[in-house]
Amino acid sequence: MSVDHEIVLPCTFVIFGATGNLASNKLLPALYHLEVAARLSESLSIVAFARRPWSDEEWRTHMREVLGSKVKGSLDTPVFQRFIARFRYQQGDLNNVASYQALADRLPPESACSSTVFYLAIKPAEFSAVIHNLEAVGLNKPRGLNRVVIEKPFGEDIESARVLNQLLHQNFGEEQVYRIDHFLGKETVQNLLVFRFANTLIEPLWNRNFIDHVQITVAESIGIEKRADYYDRAGALRDMLQNHLMQLLTVVAMEPPPALEADALRDEKVKVLRSIRPIAKRAVHAHAIRAQYARGNVEGQPVLGYQEEENVEPNSITETYVAAKFYIDNWRWRGVPFYLRTGKRMKHQTSMIAIRFRHPPQQLFRETPLESIEPNWILLSIQPDESMRMEIHVKQPGLDMDTRMMQMNASFLKTDEETLDAYETLLLDVIEGDRSLFLRFDEVEWAWRVVDPILKHWTVERDYIPTYAAGSWGPADSNRLFDNDDQTWRNEL
Ligand code: BG6
Repeated sequence: MSVDHEIVLPCTFVIFGATGNLASNKLLPALYHLEVAARLSESLSIVAFARRPWSDEEWRTHMREVLGSKVKGSLDTPVFQRFIARFRYQQGDLNNVASYQALADRLPPESACSSTVFYLAIKPAEFSAVIHNLEAVGLNKPRGLNRVVIEKPFGEDIESARVLNQLLHQNFGEEQVYRIDHFLGKETVQNLLVFRFANTLIEPLWNRNFIDHVQITVAESIGIEKRADYYDRAGALRDMLQNHLMQLLTVVAMEPPPALEADALRDEKVKVLRSIRPIAKRAVHAHAIRAQYARGNVEGQPVLGYQEEENVEPNSITETYVAAKFYIDNWRWRGVPFYLRTGKRMKHQTSMIAIRFRHPPQQLFRETPLESIEPNWILLSIQPDESMRMEIHVKQPGLDMDTRMMQMNASFLKTDEETLDAYETLLLDVIEGDRSLFLRFDEVEWAWRVVDPILKHWTVERDYIPTYAAGSWGPADSNRLFDNDDQTWRNEL
């Protein structure tokens, strides 16, 4: 999309937390795919910063193991050799300023290269130490050129988000800050913009006159995967709903921006967030549900309950499932409920946006076998398949007036095409200085404001959390969010 023209291509990419989950699962594979696609400039080197006392060689062995299980095809190729040769390992402690001095000493001198990316692939609790220490050794400068990439959740509530933002701004200019929400890099999510704004067919239907309600589901079958030290503090509301699901909501609901450039898009997203009706204290129970997974079976395998996972606090009441209902009080959406839900250890991995249309205004088929006609849906699947389906009625051939529901499937991919993970797109954007798909602070702040009443309410109610069996679709109680009896969760495409 739009690139800041002053931007200088970085010659070093530093990953803080290089041995962690995020780096192994997402960043290293994505950087490797960019290498395969020949999108990394020859002069780019990558520094892996982590605590383990490893040599460059030990790091490379680790990387081979990590990538061996994550990328398709053999690693015995010149491309992999080129990729691995970009890396150096820097042993260091995030809290110790001397480690940053050692890092600075290994970076090329400013005269040779003036731009470095610092990727904070670490726990949110460690963000401020890194920002302080980068500043202490002068790595926040030169202003405008060095970039810092911050993962979500940005803060743990509205107040801490503001404090973190202030700290960032004391040390970096806004143009240096990339607040990442990787859902915005997913193909379907970007495609949603095209679907809505490049097809005149859709836009007239995209409002309260035709749409009954919207469901946004991000269900995962995985559990917390050794991330208890982070997850047990965060929970599903902070980990997923405040950021990923809220971003999906804004892309579904926003008005067409005047241009496809960073600030125009963000302005429209902020307008949506500002229009979300605040949830009153006494209404939290009616608008939000939390639950935690108990033992069960996922994809045929028995799995532990959340409280039995390694490093989870005994009797933890952290939610691994959250469902919530929001209303957007503007001309387009007034009265249309948006139901959002996400959970770990659910039946299948399914992420989708499901849009249900209203019933036809007249029961034209009352005297026929078709007494109650199912409404139309548009289903935008994000994971595991990326597709877009439209459900419409057609008449079954024959003498009677029977219909069947047809799915018109507009798969994004042709058979020989493969999609990239969101991180490829976003890392390339960081390198090329395109901030369109990154968050501005007011988006983050408004999203916190939306969920703040729920967070506050749950902080007080600390003695009990309902459970759901691992491998189910979450607690049955989540049906109580629906405004009408004919609304139910759509679990499958
Ligand atoms: C991350 C969350 O942001 O997104 C994880 O912290 C979650 O808990 C992950 O599993 C899901 O992203 P993806 O792209 O793997 O579906």
